[in-house]
Formats: sequence, C-alpha cells, structure tokens
Amino acid sequence: MEIVNKIDELFVTRNGIRSRGGRLGLVPTMGALHEGHLSLIRAAKAKSDVVASSIFVNPTQFGPNEDFSRYPRDLEKDLALLERDGVDLVFVPSVEEMYPQQSVTWVAVEGLSDRLCGKSRPGHFRGVATVVAKLFNIVEPDIAFFGQKDAAQVAIIRRMVRDLNMPVAIEACPIVREPDGLALSSRNAYLSPQQRQDALVLFRSLLRVRELFADGERNPAILIKAAKNVLSGSSAVRLDYFEIVDPDELTPLALINQPALVAVAAFVGNPRLIDNIVLEP
Ligand code: PAJ
Repeated sequence: MEIVNKIDELFVTRNGIRSRGGRLGLVPTMGALHEGHLSLIRAAKAKSDVVASSIFVNPTQFGPNEDFSRYPRDLEKDLALLERDGVDLVFVPSVEEMYPQQSVTWVAVEGLSDRLCGKSRPGHFRGVATVVAKLFNIVEPDIAFFGQKDAAQVAIIRRMVRDLNMPVAIEACPIVREPDGLALSSRNAYLSPQQRQDALVLFRSLLRVRELFADGERNPAILIKAAKNVLSGSSAVRLDYFEIVDPDELTPLALINQPALVAVAAFVGNPRLIDNIVLEP
C-alpha cells in the first residue's frame, strides 16, 4: 500500500495507475475508521481495479464551535486497517497542502446546502463540496464511494458532480449499524456508556416511522409527530431535526407517494448524531 502526503506525488502515482488502465475507485474519509468506512472500501474493491482512500480531517466543514480540534484521530490504526483490507493507495495530506494560504475558491451547492444538517451547520456543506471537488481533481477517480449514513452529503455531491460535469460516478452504500441498531459513526467514540444507550432512541424513532408506514400511513406530519413522541421519551436527547424529504432535493414532502428520506439529527450530550432510513411506497 502506497501512502502519499503531497499532491504532486499523488499526480505521479495517479498517472502511473491511469496508464495501466482499469477503474480507479476513491473512498474519501476523515479517518477514525470503523466498519462503516470499511464497508465502503469493500464496495470499492468489488467495483474497481485500483482502490484509493483519503484520510483528511477537513477544517472547512467544521463550524467555529464544533469538534475539529477534538475530532478523533488515529492514523496508525487507520493505515493498518486500510492495508489489511487491500487498499492500494492512501492520500493523507496536511491542512496546508489542501488549503494553501491564498486559497479563496469555494464550491457552493446552493439550496441543498441549507437543508437538513446544513440548517444547523452553516457552511458545513460548502466545506464538504469544496474538499470533495478538490479530492476528485487530485485523484481523478472513475467511481467514488459514499455512505448513505450522510444522506444529505450524498445528494449534494451527486448534484455537484452533475452541475459541474465531473467525470466520476457516485456510489452510495448502505448504513452499517451496531447489532442493536446504532449507526456506526466516528463520533460514537465520544459517548459515555449511558449516552450510548440513550443514542438508540434515534434509530427507534426511525423504526416507529417505518412501522406506521408499513401499516399504510402516508402523511409525513403524522409520522413526524409519532417519531418525536419516541424521541421525547429520552430526556438526555435534544432533537435538532426530524424531517421527511425528497432524497434528491432535500425538501419536505407533503405526502409520501415517492421515495422519501426520513432523517433525524440529535444531540446526545455534546455529540451530535445523525441517522436515516428511506421509505419506498
Ligand atoms: P467521514 O465521516 O469520515 O465518513 C467517510 C464516509 O464514510 C462517508 O461517505 C460516510 O457517509 C461513510 N460512513 C460513515 N459512517 C457510516 C456508516 N455507519 N455506514 C456506512 N457508511 C458510513 O463524510 C465524511 O467523512 C466527510 O464529509 C468527507 C466526505 C470525507 C469529506 O471531508
């Protein structure tokens, strides 16, 4: 496995890969890798000939009061996992390498970036779109793999790729969960044992919606009310949003007569967790 820190070096490696032909898959990450990330690596291995991954805690997608400096980092362990799972190339740039001082250009996916997590995290999706566009330009993958766990992120990246004619296919991979249903997240590492238990209410609220939907309920207002009822049962959990939206536009649905993204975000103590399901009528 080749580990590269500099963009110039990456260009050389990438040109070598391209000259040999075959499909190059990219899995962008911020490290602190868990089975969710590794499921993307496995998907990439199945669908590409050469697999690249990136580890970069991207400062521009964190707000001023968010956890950028405290974000979990364990490069040695991450590299061992990527090597074990057969990754060919890992890009680990520094902040200075990715954002030289004179850097003033941003990618803004307008509208979508202000919805769901974008509402409570202003600037977050501008940072995500910008760094992903940079990674696409640097690595030039044929396919890039993202987790459905961050459903709004997937919608925004798909739109960016479409609007800017980026020659890359986007694959969304299913959410990997703990046996009890909690969606894997690097931020789960912040949870105390009690908060870890409390956090289960997010998935329970989604299951309640799935159950009512299976019984024929198609009114988002009623489904959201039922979910909020479940969430309010846990006093340790502070809801950020619970929404039922169009999976591409991220705008609220008045009736579920098409695929619907049911998305929740909540603070469990300090950590903010997200989860979602998709309903298919
Ligand atoms: P990060 O949070 O490290 O996640 C990297 C990828 O792993 C994302 O595509 C995310 O959706 C996916 N992922 C995380 N938890 C998952 C789970 N439980 N099941 C399936 N996939 C999961 O998302 C980012 O980093 C950044 O925003 C990034 C795209 C790297 C840009 O900085």
